[in-house]
Amino acid sequence: MTDTTRRAVIFGAGGAGLAVALSACGASDGDMTASADQDGSQGGQSQAAQGGGELAKTSDIPEGGGKVFKDQDVVVTQPAAGEFKAFSATCTHQGCPVGSVSNNEIVCPCHGSRFSAKDGSVTNGPAARPLAEKKITVSGDSITLA
Ligand code: FES
Repeated sequence: MTDTTRRAVIFGAGGAGLAVALSACGASDGDMTASADQDGSQGGQSQAAQGGGELAKTSDIPEGGGKVFKDQDVVVTQPAAGEFKAFSATCTHQGCPVGSVSNNEIVCPCHGSRFSAKDGSVTNGPAARPLAEKKITVSGDSITLA
């Protein structure tokens, strides 16, 4: 009799504790994570879609350098002060996205091809064809894809 009572008590306490712990986790963590994810991705997508206009601020593009916009497949450069250019960001060698711009050269990290930040021409192989130029419009401090 004594044995049975003790076991029942222990089981009861354990079971209740477990249930409370589980429901507490599910309610708070689960809900918060789900809604944060939804808000984040929806906000990001709609901003990018609506933004279709502005690609960057002129201040984002360093002189002699540039910036790669992978999502838009564009690399924007500033070969001379106040002069902005844009090219396809897909390397003409084997299609890697170009990685960076420095010293007026657009560099592909895959096999080391380099392209002029002025006109997209190849300055160093193995790529043989230039990066296609893309049209942009600079209005004030805002750069948009034309
Ligand atoms: S894909 Fe760019 S150098 Fe090969």
